[in-house]
Amino acid sequence: MTTETQWTLEDTAARRDRFYAASQKKFVPFREPMVFRKGSMQYLWDVEGRKYTDLLGMNVCISVGHSHPRVVSAAMEQAQELTHCTTMFYHPVPAHFAEELTATMPTGPDGDIEWVVHFTNSGAEAIDLAMTMARSYTGNLDLLALRTAYHGPTAAAQSITGISGWRHPGMPGNVAFVAEPNQYRGIFGENAGAAPYLDEIERTIHTATPGRVAGIFVESVQGYGGIIEMPPGYMSGAAERVRAAGGLYIADEVQSGFGRTGDNMWGFEADGVIPDIVVMAKGIGNGFPLGAVVARKQIAAPMAEKFLFHTYGANPTSCAAGRAVLEVIHDDRLQENAKTVGAALLQRLTDLKGRYEAIGDVRGRGLMLAIEMVKDRSSKEPDPDTTAAVFEATRESGVILSKSGAYQSCLRMVPPLCLSLDDVDTVADGLDRALARASA
Ligand SMILES: Cc1ncc(COP(=O)(O)O)c(C=O)c1O
Repeated sequence: MTTETQWTLEDTAARRDRFYAASQKKFVPFREPMVFRKGSMQYLWDVEGRKYTDLLGMNVCISVGHSHPRVVSAAMEQAQELTHCTTMFYHPVPAHFAEELTATMPTGPDGDIEWVVHFTNSGAEAIDLAMTMARSYTGNLDLLALRTAYHGPTAAAQSITGISGWRHPGMPGNVAFVAEPNQYRGIFGENAGAAPYLDEIERTIHTATPGRVAGIFVESVQGYGGIIEMPPGYMSGAAERVRAAGGLYIADEVQSGFGRTGDNMWGFEADGVIPDIVVMAKGIGNGFPLGAVVARKQIAAPMAEKFLFHTYGANPTSCAAGRAVLEVIHDDRLQENAKTVGAALLQRLTDLKGRYEAIGDVRGRGLMLAIEMVKDRSSKEPDPDTTAAVFEATRESGVILSKSGAYQSCLRMVPPLCLSLDDVDTVADGLDRALARASA
């Protein structure tokens, strides 16, 4: 038997197509397969040596840069010493990391909020745990979730996911959906603000639940929904309404966390809300598998009554990577970089909107941006075909984007936080060429 890896495009594509299950086939975005061989910071190289600027950040997992040397060496040093240590034993690396993560959380006006951490292997595991925690703490079963939300692939996480393409039949129930406060195409019209959507939460609690709820899950900025920011007052108002019905406010920071929005470490901070539970994953490990539920101490407490064991939760190799990620965000001033470079990219995207009718909306903040393609600016009919054409054409310009949105009509940009101002020109010029070709 040989374990040698065949590095050709054809061989890899043929082998994957033959041996991967059907469940992994749909999720191949490009018409032609791509095989990446190397990554460094915000760049990728394919198997034929072609360089790309990565605006997808491997689905927002690469926070501080591909194969960032500090993260890689922290993980390697730990892996060589002890790769895995099951959670029943004490280990200093996850213990330090838990302390460091909680230090990033707000402590409230009286400084008395205490936070605790439960490490998981992935975001969906963390979402499942947050759902269980909210139900255990409140004694209520019903949860609220937002339409166009994405919270993960497990059955529980799918049950609070509001995009049909990501939901399989037969997911668990006791979830009521509220309209997402989309300020471009939301049900209450353009720039309707938070108020009608907060009323909608109250109405939904009153009409679609027993009147008492376990909580609401809110992505501080919806990612796969097509970069939908929560309008001012929404997150804090939602927390108020849900708490009045006995529930908790749960922030999903899997995409919006770790400084990505530029203004704050956590997306929820934009509205001054202090969540009861915060879910994080992806960028936490810069590509190493890791997730976490960070909860107020008293809310996590009832979970002590039963065993709950995530085999790779608190894995020291991933946690060593996570600690290095926090250091690099701080030392390389990546939150500030996200703010500056994100603002420059947003400006270039806005200029493109001025020149291409097919762009209906440009939005986002920091390095969490999107353009939405429409067939007609007044009807706002989503245009997934032009989106797909631009997406393919930017690949040829050496830029990797992501298609997203409930109708696959948005091009999402969530690069590693080290993207530079020079990259902004590469990306905007590449998009310009792609849009010109797609509109011709
Ligand atoms: C906002 C959000 N929450 C949760 C998840 C689930 O995370 P994971 O894929 O690590 O299970 C994702 C994954 O894309 C996500 O984008």
